[in-house]
Amino acid sequence: MKSVVIQKPNELVIEERPLPAPAAGDVRVKIKLAGICGSDSHIYRGHNPFAKYPRVIGHEFFGVIDAVGEGVDETRLGQRVSVDPVISCGNCYPCSVGKPNVCTSLVVLGVHRDGGFSEYAVVPSKNAWHIPDAIEDKHAVMVEPFTIAANVTGHAQPTEHDVALIYGAGPMGLVTVQALKGVYRVKQVIVVDRIEERLAMAQRSGADWVINNAEQSLQAVLDEKGVKPTLIIDAACHPSILQEAITLASPAARIVLMGFSSEPSQIVQQGITGKELSIFSTRLNANKFPVVIDWLEKGLINPEKLVTHTFDYHHVTDAIELFEKDQRQCCKVLLTFGQ
Ligand code: NAI
Repeated sequence: MKSVVIQKPNELVIEERPLPAPAAGDVRVKIKLAGICGSDSHIYRGHNPFAKYPRVIGHEFFGVIDAVGEGVDETRLGQRVSVDPVISCGNCYPCSVGKPNVCTSLVVLGVHRDGGFSEYAVVPSKNAWHIPDAIEDKHAVMVEPFTIAANVTGHAQPTEHDVALIYGAGPMGLVTVQALKGVYRVKQVIVVDRIEERLAMAQRSGADWVINNAEQSLQAVLDEKGVKPTLIIDAACHPSILQEAITLASPAARIVLMGFSSEPSQIVQQGITGKELSIFSTRLNANKFPVVIDWLEKGLINPEKLVTHTFDYHHVTDAIELFEKDQRQCCKVLLTFGQ
């Protein structure tokens, strides 16, 4: 089989590898589609502290089970599946409180273990989620990015009465917009970004109001309208955003952080306690695949609104470079395998 391998930072090859046999409890998935995420590019460029090389990247992928290991029900053969990249021990403290996404021995497919940019991948059977026939392939491949939004909303518990502010109209901001509008019917979702084209995408995903903070002060615009967000989600992830969010938030608001910056954020305690704000952080997803599959079955979200490009995997380098360089035109880029 052919696999997309990052040999070491900045060295990507399409390598011939032996077809793996699934071990006990595993299934082999013949990959059909995969999505490119920022972290794939970070591993390619050597900017992901968790990655070990050589590595088959890719943690958003969909395909068909074509072999099962010992102990796995043979009726799974031929099933269409989306793969949860989070592998956890099931025994540690975080696993015991329903947070396998921060398991003390967390393994993420495509980061710590070989992932889905490959003609075939072997994964634990329980990570391969059956996709009902009603869900198209091009939607099924997008389950994983939407699980990030499901994790955000799992913490924040949005209601119809919220006024939500989302920083960043990249893929993460857009999946969150769709979840807030489509699933939770939040009455007002505001999105702030510095790129007009991305703000237009946010509108297509359901944002009620978009603000370009390269052109105007976010605080001035919100103050002018007397808007105090009750739910703020940072999907732009600059360390300076937390203090601004604390300042802008309504009393009793919730703030959700998604960023992994190692730079300090300067914040004032009084701004948080004075309004009794709740601040959540979110990483990957905690058992959210069935949640998103349900959203898709009910037609509450539309992943196609995020997909701007599709490449055959032989052109993976072009695909990643486009993804890195063109934030105006590019949002989600898909790779096709074995078409
Ligand atoms: P992206 O880079 O495509 O999008 C970020 C957007 O934020 C861009 O459109 C950019 O113009 C905008 N932006 C940057 N600074 C801004 C500011 N000060 N004000 C307003 N807008 C600003 O990234 P993507 O894929 O959407 O991911 C967003 C962030 O989420 C990344 O930092 C990524 O590391 C993080 N992430 C976190 C996950 C988690 O589980 N916690 C999972 C996936 C991504």
